[in-house]
Formats: sequence, structure tokens, C-alpha cells
Amino acid sequence: MAKVQKIAGIRGMNDILPSEAPIWEYFEECAHDVLRGYGYKQIRTPILEATSLFKRGIGEVTDIVEKEMYCFTDSLNGEELALRPENTAGVVRSVIEHNLTYNAPQRLWYFGPMFRHERPQRGRYRQFHQLGVEALGFKGPDVDVEQILMARRLFDELEILPLKLELNSLGNLEERKVHREALIKYFESNRDVLDEDAKRRLYSNPLRILDTKNPDMQQLVEAAPKLLDYLKEDSLAFLRRMEELLSIAGVDYTINPRLVRGLDYYNHTVYEWVTDKLGAQATVCGGGRYDPLIEMLGGRPTPAVGFAMGVERVLEVMRECGFESAEPDTEVYVLHQGGNSQGYAMMLGEILRDAFYDVIVHAGESSLKSQMKKADQSGAKYALICGEEETAKGQVTVKCMYGDPEERFMKQETLDLQDAIQYFVNLNDDFFKEDEE
Ligand code: HAM
Repeated sequence: MAKVQKIAGIRGMNDILPSEAPIWEYFEECAHDVLRGYGYKQIRTPILEATSLFKRGIGEVTDIVEKEMYCFTDSLNGEELALRPENTAGVVRSVIEHNLTYNAPQRLWYFGPMFRHERPQRGRYRQFHQLGVEALGFKGPDVDVEQILMARRLFDELEILPLKLELNSLGNLEERKVHREALIKYFESNRDVLDEDAKRRLYSNPLRILDTKNPDMQQLVEAAPKLLDYLKEDSLAFLRRMEELLSIAGVDYTINPRLVRGLDYYNHTVYEWVTDKLGAQATVCGGGRYDPLIEMLGGRPTPAVGFAMGVERVLEVMRECGFESAEPDTEVYVLHQGGNSQGYAMMLGEILRDAFYDVIVHAGESSLKSQMKKADQSGAKYALICGEEETAKGQVTVKCMYGDPEERFMKQETLDLQDAIQYFVNLNDDFFKEDEE
């Protein structure tokens, strides 16, 4: 047969292999515990949404919508669809559609893959995962602070603190309008310093120019009019209250007047958690308040605030901080000699699983010697041998696999099946008793 060409995975989209699964599971378990502790409930929305949802929600003149979205026309019905680049818009769409905030505000969380067509590098992928929260129906700023505390608690559980928290206020629409005019005037009078990207954004999204990474423009944006100076009493009071609550809770932060975030739906609070351990892709979590979004997407005006963390980046920081995880070992490996003994072994496996053991029953047929090798590699604590002889007599040979090899060899005994089962049931009971004490 001609050599069949292999099909590779898609660039920037990673497989999570079994050896990496434990760190993901650990992260998810910690996250579930923390989120439950704050009364947040899970929501799962589809990975595909109408392209127009993101265009309207995130903003037409953002990097995400302009150049990073995976959009396509469904050839079966002509619908314009996009793989979600983030999930705030999707959650808001779902909340409006199901009228979730009709009776009570909602504290929601989600976990799952997002898609952005960016240039892949360490910490930046085309499929990545976010853990996100959205609280809808709360005016804040208490809930804004609650979410910062929640993220800090999770980072603490994962042992990746300290991280830097950068905070800013984007005020309200009116304040941003006045600031925007001042900003355009300022950039117009410095047109020769603007790069192509900035020129393109000058009239469509001048605030985003402040976010530029271009070293030649740093001096210019440093001296640009600051939105903070344009905030009026209410917006300032919102920010001050947030700062008060943060300092009472002992959260360190810095105000970064240039922090504008890459999505258009924010007002008042915006913030990012930043690490010094990942090089360029340093933001592990970003969020803020987005009071206008629900109305923009056709719902009743509802204040809202949320954040999302990049899980791959958080895991990378955990590894940098020395997190080590081992794959959980199998507890029992059952060997057999085919024929009747295979069914006997499978039945024994079922009984032990009823007694809460993790069991591998050898699949296929091979010599007991090679099966014993597999049992050893599996890390199992016990090998249970159901040979032809044991099967015929209703017995099983129990071999203890831990301890040094010679000692191991000594610890082998053939028991009646019932006695062997009782032995394992008692072993687990003793373990649970010890755990309770
Ligand atoms: P975002 O800042 O676009 O915000 O993304 C949140 C986090 O996702 C980033 O801080 C980063 O850790 C991670 N992330 C983003 N792009 C990538 C990528 N290409 N590869 C790996 N990680 C990435 C949002 O998505 C908002 N929806 C957050 C939010 C929720 N605001 C209010 N509610």
C-alpha cells in the first residue's frame, strides 16, 4: 500500500495529553471549589455563535473582530457563524434569551475553549481556554471587588501569588466622548509620530492607541490626555469606593491610566492580573464592568461585571512556580490466562470497582510474565492473578507490588475469592476510618 500521509493538528491548537491532564484537573477542581464558595453557578453556551453577536458585542474596530475571529458561512444554510473568541457576549446573549435576570441578579461562571487567529507563541494560542465569571444585575463596586478577591483566592490556592494587579477606570460614555475628542486633537497635532495602526485608529478607536507596544510611540502615549482626568464626580466616587474596599481586603494594586483593554464593552472598572514569569504574554486574567452591553445586545439595561483568565497561562505560571503533578496510579491490575479465566477476571474487576478501587483488567491475551510487566508499569499496588488453576478452584492470587522487589516477591498469597474480596473491602474501610479520625 502507498504510504499514507499523516494529518497534523492545526497550528496554535494544542492537544492536552494524558500526562498533562492532572494539572488541568487540579486547576478545575480548585476553581470549582473557589467559585462555589462565592455562590457562582455554571453556564455552558455553544462554541459557535452568530458572527454579528461578536461584531456588535466586542466592537467592530477591535483587533479581535478585525483580524482574529474564525468566521465562516455555514454552507448548509448560509448562516454567518464564528467560533467564539471570548464568552462574555455569548453569556449575555444566553441571559437575554432565557430572561435569566428577570427575578434576580445572576452570578455565573464558565470554562472552555476560545478561538483567536493570532500568531502563536508561548502563552498565545489559536485555541485556548478561559475560566470566566460574569455577574449580571449588580451595580457595584462591591461585586467588582468580590471578583478580584475570588481571582486572588484561586491564585492563592494554585500557589502562584504574587501577581500584579493593574486597575483603571474607563468612566462612562459621556466622559469617554470628551476625552476622545481631546485625544484625537492631541494625536492629530503629533501625526508624524503615529504608526500606520495608530493612524488607522485615530478616528475609529483612538483609546486603543494608548495600548500600543510600539517603542517609538511610548513617549507620545505617556504624555497623552488621561481619561482619569476627565472623570466626573460619580465615576471618581465609584473608583474611590473600589479602592477603599480593595485596601480593606488587603489587595495590592496599581492604577495604570493606560490600561484600556482590547474589547469595547467596558465602562468604569477595568483591570488585569499580570505575571513576570511568562515574558511577552504576561496577562493571566483580565476583566471589568460592562454596563452598556446587555442593552446593546437587545436586553433590558442591566449592570454587569466579569473577568476571564487564560488557563494555559495560569498553568504555565504554576509550572514556573514548581507545581508538579503525577498521573494517578492504578490501584489494582488483574491478570488472567484467557478462556474462562478472562471472564472471571472481568467479574472480579467489577466487584472491586463496586468497592471503590481503580482497576485495570488486562485486555487481550498474553503470557502471565508479560502481563506482570504491564502491571508493574501501571504503578498498581496489587496484582491479582486469575490463572486457569485459580479460576477452576474459585481462588485468586494476590500479589503486593509495593516495597522493594525482593520483599514484593514474598508478599504473594492465594486466597479464596470471597476472602480476597473481603480483604480489599476491609482495606478501604480502614482507609476511610483513618481519614475520618
Ligand atoms: P481578554 O483580555 O480578551 O478578555 O481575555 C482574557 C484572558 O484570556 C487574557 O488575559 C489571557 O490570559 C487569555 N487569552 C487571551 N487570548 C489568548 C490567546 N490567544 N492565547 C492564550 N490565552 C489568551 C476577555 O476575553 C473578556 N471576555 C473578559 C471579561 C469577562 N470581561 C468581562 N467579563
